[in-house]
Amino acid sequence: TPRVFSGIKPSGGLTLGNYLGAIKRFVGMQGAMETMYCVVDLHAITVWQDPKELSHATREVAAGYLAAGLDPSQSILFNQSRVSAHAELGWIFNCVARVGWMNRMTQFKDKAGSNAEKVSLGLYAYPSLMAADILLYHATQVPVGEDQKQHVELTRDIAAKFNHDYKTDFFPMTEPVIDGPATRVMNLRDGSKKMSKSGESDMERINMRDGADLIAKKFKKAKTDPEPLPDTLDGLKGRPEARNLVDIYAALSDTTSEAVITEYAGAGWGRFKPALADLAVDRLAPISDEMTRLMDDPAEIDRILADGAERARTIAEPILSRTYEIVGLLR
Ligand code: TYM
Repeated sequence: TPRVFSGIKPSGGLTLGNYLGAIKRFVGMQGAMETMYCVVDLHAITVWQDPKELSHATREVAAGYLAAGLDPSQSILFNQSRVSAHAELGWIFNCVARVGWMNRMTQFKDKAGSNAEKVSLGLYAYPSLMAADILLYHATQVPVGEDQKQHVELTRDIAAKFNHDYKTDFFPMTEPVIDGPATRVMNLRDGSKKMSKSGESDMERINMRDGADLIAKKFKKAKTDPEPLPDTLDGLKGRPEARNLVDIYAALSDTTSEAVITEYAGAGWGRFKPALADLAVDRLAPISDEMTRLMDDPAEIDRILADGAERARTIAEPILSRTYEIVGLLR
């Protein structure tokens, strides 16, 4: 049976991009397949994190998972650092992956910018740890947003090189699962950039914990063009900000962007934006309220994560042992 693995970094709060591009789709895969969703704390520290904030953000991502509908009896929910095999397999993959492959990672280039000499070695090696996250469980399906596609493809390269170098077929080929209308939610003030946790201005993103008034204000101030909505999707070509708002509406209402265009053909922003804000509040407020409730009892979140980690370890351990054996490491 196919196994699903995915993860979110606990660095800052969750955004609408994380919700639509990841969490909501994680919930959609639950039940049909074996699903594992991780809070990847070891990835977060590739950039310095305040220790207290890191623990808080780790619990908050877990609370987001639970509040959105992930169920610990149906999915394995855990934080990465609790299962030491991630770091162990990560090291082996550091020895399989090539420096040239890392140099081609666009996310690293974006994050490091002109400062590549000063970033952590961990940030550079990050995709190799991500490959370990996935392959430690022989996961075959990885739901992610568009921005992670290159990393999942690198995971396939690492699996293929390991299999080739050690004359084995031990590691499976992983498929990125990138579907639905919102796999790349864009910045509300600049439709050429993705919405991210770390953008300079808070007005460019919707945070999952934003209140109703703030959500309405952010959509109202979102950049658009003066044209009304067209009557076909083709009419959105060259209008990235308009396209983004239509896609967000579609994802929030579980429909397609085509259907949204049909419903709002000819509508101006004065009509569409308030409708979008209402829809977003309607979908996000219950999740945000439930997150607040869950965060009142951090011990319960920790218990769920510890229990998930224990279940994850039982899958990981035989795979790590076999890897050591293939490589010739004595245990
Ligand atoms: P991270 O923490 O940056 O983002 C978590 C997930 O949210 C998606 N996402 C978006 N989707 C649509 N629009 C956006 N604007 C947007 N912003 C973020 C991301 O694509 C991702 O799916 N390296 C990963 C975490 C990771 C991982 C893994 C994922 C570590 N190990 C193994 C899958 C499997 C990351 O930094 O995601």
